[in-house]
Amino acid sequence: MDASLHEKEKKQKTTLAILTYDDGKRIFRGNRKNFVDLIKTGEDHGVDVYVTTTDELKLSGSQIVGYTYDEVHKKWKKGLVPLPNVVYNRIPFRKFELLPEVQQTIQSCLKHGKIHFFNPAFYNKWTLFEWLSKSKDTKAIVPVTQKLTNSDELEKMLQKHKSLYLKPVRGKAGKGIMKVSYRNGKNQTGEYQLSIQEKTRSHISRHSSVQQLWSQIREMSSGKDYIMQQAIQLAHYKQRPFDLRALIQKNAKGEWSVAGVGARLAGKRSITTHVPRGGSIDNPLKLLSATFGLGGSRKIIKQTKQTAIILAKQIEKASGQTIGEMSMDLGVDTSGNIWFFEANAKPMKFDEPHIRKRSLQNLIRYSLFLSGNKKAKRSPETAAARKKTVNLRSRKPNALTQKILAAIKI
Ligand SMILES: Nc1ncnc2c1ncn2[C@@H]1O[C@H](COP(=O)(O)OP(=O)(O)O)[C@@H](O)[C@H]1O
Ligand SMILES: [Mg+2]
Repeated sequence: MDASLHEKEKKQKTTLAILTYDDGKRIFRGNRKNFVDLIKTGEDHGVDVYVTTTDELKLSGSQIVGYTYDEVHKKWKKGLVPLPNVVYNRIPFRKFELLPEVQQTIQSCLKHGKIHFFNPAFYNKWTLFEWLSKSKDTKAIVPVTQKLTNSDELEKMLQKHKSLYLKPVRGKAGKGIMKVSYRNGKNQTGEYQLSIQEKTRSHISRHSSVQQLWSQIREMSSGKDYIMQQAIQLAHYKQRPFDLRALIQKNAKGEWSVAGVGARLAGKRSITTHVPRGGSIDNPLKLLSATFGLGGSRKIIKQTKQTAIILAKQIEKASGQTIGEMSMDLGVDTSGNIWFFEANAKPMKFDEPHIRKRSLQNLIRYSLFLSGNKKAKRSPETAAARKKTVNLRSRKPNALTQKILAAIKI
């Protein structure tokens, strides 16, 4: 083959780098099984996939240090690999991602004329709320949310809503989550009940005054930024509340699609549904059918998928970032309305095999799509928009539900 043609072909091959962090404890951090599966899926589609770290991703040359997987010896192989044309950010913890040297690498990728970099940052629960409140299409799906600032605001919010969830804005996996309710106590006097999520159960305490309640919350939140959010009465299955986890990804055309919807059933004594906290994985159709029947449940799942796409589009638009995937925690209340709880920019592995397979293929196909496209300029509008404060507006919880039902004619 003519040498220049050969060079050209080599250049055109899609090279996907999974970006992670090396903290010196092991070769690199992150879910290595996930990375191996993505490398294999890449092979099936003619895409070279390797892992690299923020230290190794130097954009000045034509090669960098990367890790490929030797299937025969079941070992990682360190070596020189071509500079990627697509970078998938899988830095596993915020504390790593926020390091100045890591930020520098991310920023140089974003500025680079040829490298497509997706999922540049973790989300923050307050920012997500602001982004989604900006659009009439999404604001009604998010429970009423405010920053947790002082006991007066907490008391006011408790007068409007029976129960509230208190959540660290940068939390994950149920860590630091509390639930607070105002209810009638034994002697007909009101009391505050505070549930604190511990390892696999929640610890409950009762307080006769808001000041007492507040001091306990202050102690538990240990200086972290929190939101307070209207608690949604989730649909139940055998007296255990459950919620839905959707994986939303870009496809081969660069359009949002739903790779799958799973369900997580809360542990008996938990206020969250996370598996490590006593929750369990289940089939959404089965769980929903106990309350809404099979037909009703099918409609809810269809609607969940459409809602998830509307939410993903708004998150992407308001963030001004290139996003290739996100997972979402969505609740279904006892009347069948869908609610947004949070989105994750570093989705955990979905154990449901059909979702898992599709999710790997989507990542590879989206990378192929990106590498075949010229890099778009980033929108300058978003930074300014992000700073704007959002007013809590009056809300109609069913507006979007009705809109979607009309659109899909059910
Ligand atoms: N406003 C709410 N109403 C009812 N349940 C909620 C609410 N917010 C959170 N939860 C429950 O707690 C879980 C964890 O909340 P989430 O916002 O996803 O935080 P984390 O980042 O810790 O996963 C949810 O999956 C849901 O089961
Ligand atoms: Mg969650």
